[in-house]
Amino acid sequence: MSRGVSCWTHAVRRVWFSSLAFSTLAACFAAEPLDPDRVATVIEALTRLGPEKVEANPKLKEALEKVLEVTRGTPQFVELVRDFKIKNQDPALLEIAAKNPSNSTGAEAARLIVANHNFELLKTALTGANAVKVAEALGNTGRKEIVPLLEPIVVDMKHDVSLRKQAVRSLAQAQEGAAALLRLAKEQKLPDDVKLTAASELNNVRWANIKTEAARLLPLPQGRDAQPLPPISELAKMKGDPVKGAVIYRRDTVGCIRCHQVNGEGIDFGPNLSEIGAKLGKEALYEAILDPSAGISFGYEAWQIELKNGDEAYGLIVSDTADEIAVKTQGGIVERHKKSDIAKREQQKLSIMPAGLQQTMSTQDLVDLVEYLSSLKKAVK
Ligand code: HEC
Repeated sequence: MSRGVSCWTHAVRRVWFSSLAFSTLAACFAAEPLDPDRVATVIEALTRLGPEKVEANPKLKEALEKVLEVTRGTPQFVELVRDFKIKNQDPALLEIAAKNPSNSTGAEAARLIVANHNFELLKTALTGANAVKVAEALGNTGRKEIVPLLEPIVVDMKHDVSLRKQAVRSLAQAQEGAAALLRLAKEQKLPDDVKLTAASELNNVRWANIKTEAARLLPLPQGRDAQPLPPISELAKMKGDPVKGAVIYRRDTVGCIRCHQVNGEGIDFGPNLSEIGAKLGKEALYEAILDPSAGISFGYEAWQIELKNGDEAYGLIVSDTADEIAVKTQGGIVERHKKSDIAKREQQKLSIMPAGLQQTMSTQDLVDLVEYLSSLKKAVK
């Protein structure tokens, strides 16, 4: 051990003073296994020598490979790959990007894969289990190369809405991506369920011309005073008064209570909101109110039913047996219909929860309302 330490100390010190000392250093690498405590020293020495010298000396190259092995998955690994221009570590970089999509290590890992033009790897990852996270990391690169990867996802309805929304958010982080989203909106190709996300992002970008056009093509929802609301990300940061929010929730003109129950109060029609603050964060609550049809809760899809006698029913299907269906209509009333009486039933694209409820409120009312909803965490028995 002591021989090892002196060998290293000596070698590193020589590197400090002379760029020709790498033969000494190489000898150390050959003589000793790399133990984790020494990784920082070795990285420092290799960095001082620089990529060309390391590349030219097989022993040093071997040392670099060992360091990569030991640091795999860490920020150091990403820095090494970048600084030594290593080309064959994309899968390991991808793993890091998917694990750290929102920090600079993950963004740098994604940026390196993009810089390597390894688009096939990224395309595959965007169909896999970590797709949303990979899309997020790609957004944080801010590179224009992400546009051809993410734009097709936005418009392809076979992808989950959560991935398509992330693709929108990520595109908006690159100027070319934001422009691509605007183009989709202009050509009426932007799917309805990501429009609010796109409006929120594009009205908030730092490129003035894009922002101006977004205000025209994808205006933010308006509050009672006919002024566009701030983007959701800003609304979510505003402070509300939950006590006032509870009053607004019960207000006749707002009407939440006509379709939702909180702790037994209200009509049992839409999802119970007694613990909604534990289920949805503030941004998701704003989305649920401003754009109900963007993410319809499972089991709460709207159905239109036509009976053979010409009558119609509209509501949620709450039971569906061999010979009968039960439809819960607004107001919480359940109607039963014999299947033999039904001419046609059709699922609706729009939520039963009406869009535009924010127009019955001021911006502050809406912020108070969401503060109230997000305070609903545990049902009072
Ligand atoms: C006409 C009935 C109706 C009214 C009025 C209504 N909602 Fe809804 N709401 C629903 C239905 C149905 C759903 C489930 C379908 C969906 O997700 O769009 C829902 C979903 C929600 C969700 C998502 C619930 C979840 O578990 O994901 C929230 C939050 C919500 N409503 C809040 C409100 C608030 C706040 C108001 C008042 C401003 C309101 N709703 C007014 C019918 C209504």
